[in-house]
Amino acid sequence: MKPFSIASDIHWVGALHPDLRIFDIIMKTKNGSTYNSYLIKADKTLLIDTVKSKFTDLFLQNISQLVDFKKLDYIVVQHTEPDHSGSLIALLDKAPDAEILCSKSAVKFVKNTINRDAKITPVGDGSTIELGGKTVEFLQTPFLHWPDTMMTYCREDRLLFPCDVFANHFCDSRMFDDAIARDFAPDFELYFNIIFRPFKKNVQNALAKLKNFDIQMIAPSHGPIIRSSVDAVMTAYDQWSRPLPDNATPKCLVYYVSAHGNTAIMAKVISEALKQEKIDVELYDLTQISIDEQLDKIEACDAILVGSPTINNDAVKPVWELLTSLTTLNLKGKIAASFGSIGWSGESVKFIDERLKALKFKVPFEGVTCNLVPDDEELQNCRQLAHQVAETIKA
Ligand code: FEO
Repeated sequence: MKPFSIASDIHWVGALHPDLRIFDIIMKTKNGSTYNSYLIKADKTLLIDTVKSKFTDLFLQNISQLVDFKKLDYIVVQHTEPDHSGSLIALLDKAPDAEILCSKSAVKFVKNTINRDAKITPVGDGSTIELGGKTVEFLQTPFLHWPDTMMTYCREDRLLFPCDVFANHFCDSRMFDDAIARDFAPDFELYFNIIFRPFKKNVQNALAKLKNFDIQMIAPSHGPIIRSSVDAVMTAYDQWSRPLPDNATPKCLVYYVSAHGNTAIMAKVISEALKQEKIDVELYDLTQISIDEQLDKIEACDAILVGSPTINNDAVKPVWELLTSLTTLNLKGKIAASFGSIGWSGESVKFIDERLKALKFKVPFEGVTCNLVPDDEELQNCRQLAHQVAETIKA
């Protein structure tokens, strides 16, 4: 798509990627995406971000329609992820004298990306560049979602360029939210949950900083430019990133898979024992549920117990699907434990415990096993595990 003006002397020069179906390996993008780059053309000329390397030719063509590359003064790298830095080398080939402006922590990443000499200047929080009729200010917003992330604000136009924050994956050549008849709230929320959920505290820090800015329009790195819902999206980010309140009643989630009913017996005995300890318990057979629908609950619970039989010397696939789906959650300090019926080897509980620890759960108790069908002693071990978990949560 050709460049278009988003404000006086400010132009979109990015690329559309309508047929993108997976972003960053993990995120489904059924509506495609865009890589937004913006050119501010005042007395001096400043470009904010580049685009994915697949679109380099188109991107350079867009810029060339507006400015002679030799007159490009600044290239702002808001963070170095390749979907926005992928055309940086090709751009420097055309504009070798342009000065790269980035956060202090991005300097090394930029060097590692371009692997050549270039003029790279770190910009501090609140520092400004005068372009002649346009004043650009930089805000340091680390870990949103890379350590080097910063935002850019154009004072005269009250225009915020927030990098990936307030972005979503939606491709429509109309490019302004109010020009597209769509409620973007679910798109924003999906994007937040996948990209920013692990960084809630950093989101809160950035929102506190943004309170000092009068923002009329938001030009993110992906998806539509926000004109009609500036307050709504900022309010939503505030709600999604607030710390969760403590549970009035301690809450425990018990997940299991059972091949022949024995791990299921253990799961039910553990759940009943937890209930007797006045713990609010939910019990789920992992083969019957959608893990995506469990993520909010897991982030809000006090403890989880995970049960798996050992088959072929391993925990079973639905259990691994659960345990590999939790990386975006803040789990630090929650209690976790494992259990499972075993035949002759019994690795499942050990592997589950290792993974739970890697996810930052506290795993204070050894996993409980039974040999094939649980006998009275093994069921008592299940009740004892429930008792220990309950006592730990209450403490
Ligand atoms: Fe859209 Fe973090 O790159």
